[in-house]
Amino acid sequence: MGGKRIGVLISGRGSNLAALIDACATRDFPADIVLVISNRPDAGGLQIAQSTGIQTRTVDHTEYADREAFDAEIDRVLREHDVELVCLAGFMRLLAPGFVEAWRDRLINIHPSLLPAYPGVNIHERVIDDGVRISGCTVHYVRTAMDSGPIVAQAAVPVLSGDTAETLAARVLAAEHEIYPQALRMVADGTARLSGERVVFSARESEAAPLFSPPLS
Ligand code: GAR
Repeated sequence: MGGKRIGVLISGRGSNLAALIDACATRDFPADIVLVISNRPDAGGLQIAQSTGIQTRTVDHTEYADREAFDAEIDRVLREHDVELVCLAGFMRLLAPGFVEAWRDRLINIHPSLLPAYPGVNIHERVIDDGVRISGCTVHYVRTAMDSGPIVAQAAVPVLSGDTAETLAARVLAAEHEIYPQALRMVADGTARLSGERVVFSARESEAAPLFSPPLS
């Protein structure tokens, strides 16, 4: 305990949430998840959080007159728990500009594509239809335009010719589970920080080998 106070927003199964919870349980991790909010009462991630003793709330979007009222309630609950940094983890509601601006530079998201390519939904279907050979995932600060904002970290994942949207989603998801905790660590301890609208790192960056897809023979 003693790290940055994190609130996680989810809508579904919560496998990224589980990866973040596991990371926060490791020694010297610079963040603690103090609250999980779901907009869906049946989100599997709620049970994952509860089973580890993390406080949960459901803010059901169907019970609010408009987006602003829904966002205002999420904002209120986050502040009630003294949340310092918000992680979107499979949160499938668009947040209105008022909320995004209120949490500017304290709001990060994971998206299952190499942004700025393939914002939106049905990403893996579109990637396969386009014949793309390398896809991946992105952790980024959230700005008001959908799936936009300064990029913290990305992982590249090969697209195989036999892939379906499901098999590609599973391969990308495995990379998400690695990169989101790593990105959260760097944001929480200040290794990654904003310089204007770009993220810069105080730790040494390495020159990773290029990913070839298909591999070079
Ligand atoms: C993840 O693939 C995440 O990147 C995606 O939803 C999935 C949630 O899975 N998020 C988005 O598409 C947001 N634009 P999870 O509930 O098992 O973490």
